[in-house]
Amino acid sequence: MPLKQKPTGKLISFEGSEGCGKSTQIALLAAHLLKTGRDVITTREPGGTEIGEQIRNIIVHNSKGDEMCAETELLLFAASRAQLVREVIAPALLAGQYVLSDRYLDSSTVYQGIARNLAPDPVSHINRFAVGNVMPDITVVIDVPTEVSLQRLKQRVTDVPDRMERENVDFYNKVREGYLLLAKNMPERVILVDGTHSTTAVAQTIWEHVQLRIG
Ligand code: TYD
Repeated sequence: MPLKQKPTGKLISFEGSEGCGKSTQIALLAAHLLKTGRDVITTREPGGTEIGEQIRNIIVHNSKGDEMCAETELLLFAASRAQLVREVIAPALLAGQYVLSDRYLDSSTVYQGIARNLAPDPVSHINRFAVGNVMPDITVVIDVPTEVSLQRLKQRVTDVPDRMERENVDFYNKVREGYLLLAKNMPERVILVDGTHSTTAVAQTIWEHVQLRIG
């Protein structure tokens, strides 16, 4: 297990479809936490370590990417996460830091499990194996309708879309439904936020929830 003692830090993961506004909200929450005297680091998945970034490259940009089967994809995401947990997240939590993670294990549950239709049991076992006992204290799911997500993605993509971004509407509908289900099934951990509101309003809602849960 990566954590042998109870950490004093907190892990807050951010989840949602492409273009939901995760990175903006992570930056805003980080600034808020810093202002209130907390020590904060941010990480992203896949990637966040040298090994993880190499894995990210295989997943996202490999020229044979479209031939990658869902099982390989799941294992690569898990491999990147396993490295990130042991190299960055667990040490930071033990040092009392707030870790804001751009995606974490729920992305695999939703993208590989629900959208790619892999069976739930192996997905959750592999997820657990990768993270050990390092589970998020809070998970913020930013929900936007698929049309909004795709519209924002179109504006963002300046070059060739990567292999995840080439997926169709049906795939992104499943991703959205997957996150809504997650929020419904795990209300003690997951905060569901409406991402169609203004950036400031979304940030305020997230801040209120975080304060409520961690004081
Ligand atoms: P990224 O460019 O980081 O997209 P985003 O800004 O939306 O987070 O690419 C990550 C892609 O990988 C994104 O489409 C979600 C997907 N993904 C999975 O399918 N499973 C996972 O476990 C993770 C972490 C990401």
